Amino acid sequence: MKKILLITAVAMCALLSYNGFARSRELSPRSRSVLSAGQPFASAIHALDDGLAMTPPMGWYPWNIFGEEPQNEKLIKEIVDALVSSGLKDAGYAFVGPDEGICFYRQADGRLATNLERYPSGLGGLGDYSHKKGLKYALYTDAGTRTCSTAMPGTKDHEFEDMRRFAEWRADYIKIDWCNTEGQDIVKTYTTLHDAQHAAGRPVVHSLCSWGEGYPWRWAAEVGHLWRTTADICAPGQADWARAMRMAYANEKLAAFAGPGHWNDPDMMIAGMPGISETQSRSFFSLWCLMAAPLIAGNDLRSMSEATVETLTNLEAIAIDQDPLGIQGKIVWTDGTISIWAGKPLFDGSQAALVFNQGRHPAEKRVAWPELGIDAEAACYVRNLWTHETSGPLTGGVTVGVAPDDVALIRVSTKKDFPLPPIMVADSYLVSLLTSGSAPEKLTGAITMTNKGSAELPLWRVGEGLPSWLSVTVAKNGNSQTFTNTVSSAGLKKGSYHAVVRADNTEPVSGKPMSALYYDVDLEVARDVSGQSK
Ligand code: GLA
Repeated sequence: MKKILLITAVAMCALLSYNGFARSRELSPRSRSVLSAGQPFASAIHALDDGLAMTPPMGWYPWNIFGEEPQNEKLIKEIVDALVSSGLKDAGYAFVGPDEGICFYRQADGRLATNLERYPSGLGGLGDYSHKKGLKYALYTDAGTRTCSTAMPGTKDHEFEDMRRFAEWRADYIKIDWCNTEGQDIVKTYTTLHDAQHAAGRPVVHSLCSWGEGYPWRWAAEVGHLWRTTADICAPGQADWARAMRMAYANEKLAAFAGPGHWNDPDMMIAGMPGISETQSRSFFSLWCLMAAPLIAGNDLRSMSEATVETLTNLEAIAIDQDPLGIQGKIVWTDGTISIWAGKPLFDGSQAALVFNQGRHPAEKRVAWPELGIDAEAACYVRNLWTHETSGPLTGGVTVGVAPDDVALIRVSTKKDFPLPPIMVADSYLVSLLTSGSAPEKLTGAITMTNKGSAELPLWRVGEGLPSWLSVTVAKNGNSQTFTNTVSSAGLKKGSYHAVVRADNTEPVSGKPMSALYYDVDLEVARDVSGQSK
């Protein structure tokens, strides 16, 4: 296939329009003053405005295991249910939805419409299903005239209306492919798509998918949150270990370009897919965590082995990926068979590292503290993130034994405890309220966000400028915080009202901003209460 060859403002609007969303501050103009030291080419980080993807996105996408053909509403709903029942949701996986699964077509009036044969609830209905389960909704499209298989229309010359449609379907994440784009300027195209997303008024994680074409790491932080750095990691259905390792080595070289809100994406994961062993799955997962890669699972979640679940839900490994400093680790030593991957300081002052054995025989390798940026004399504790054992204190370094294809994934600290950064899990991302009578009513709906990490979080700060019919309070309850949404129908006309609530928080140990939290509030006013006072 060609693609493989190519190496608050208020959002209160009757009848569901999407002209804005409640946010805690106005979007600031893109400014050169936010240029970060590790970003030689990017002039501004898009995510600093919308607060999205401050740690690498986690979720599931269908392409690796299924390809196009079996994708339909039933399958995606089964996967949504499996995300919840398997424990992946509780480990932080949130974004889920169809990839190129013949989801929509273009009508004669230019608007996209759901392929109702495959998605009978409509693409909006499928999004609501995910949101109600505390998951985020991901959709797929293409920057050219058609998607890669040519089965669906691309966004070329329809950028603004298509992004409005995705906002109506309440997508939280849009992967935009680069097939059938002959003659298009890549920077201009993805910039237009960013502008179109912004104009559509719904905050969305923008995932660029040009497989490294156009060197997106040089410029895409300004218009998106992540960009593919490599070709497809496998043909649908079968993992390819050698190919995945080539992707890892290509992506590793781009470490300087990644950071909070702007990530290198070496493609969806192959962990747990046919074609690789459990050891390889664990090593693969460790490499993706060490590289702060998006953790988008690509296996069939409905039929996972226990070992795969254990791998994908290992919070100690996920903590490396989701570290608030957002630094991508890289190779610091290799002899071509054994490699040490490090350069990954973590939020609590500890360091993550891994030793990877690509040889045929078990090997021992010493990791010296200076290779991790630690003083040789320092007495350090070593946490093995797969055996969950701590050793030490040790000075100078540590020697690890590694089986073929395996890794030793470690965290090294002068302290004995190894705290987990915030890993947020929602019980729902959608509050739906319905008034019934013609007298003013007050209704409440709550959503709860739970932190699976170890630090106690400050209260989430809700954005200003909520619509007049909505107020939100936040209360703590152990590791959870509950957002109580109170709606008041006084003075409202019959109709549908919608707002997107934004909340922000700061990780208390590092002082780094956390990913902004967004959720939808729907209010259906069944009878006119516009004559009534509050
Ligand atoms: C490209 C992308 C894949 C997948 C397919 C769909 O190859 O890189 O991840 O989305 O298109 O056709």
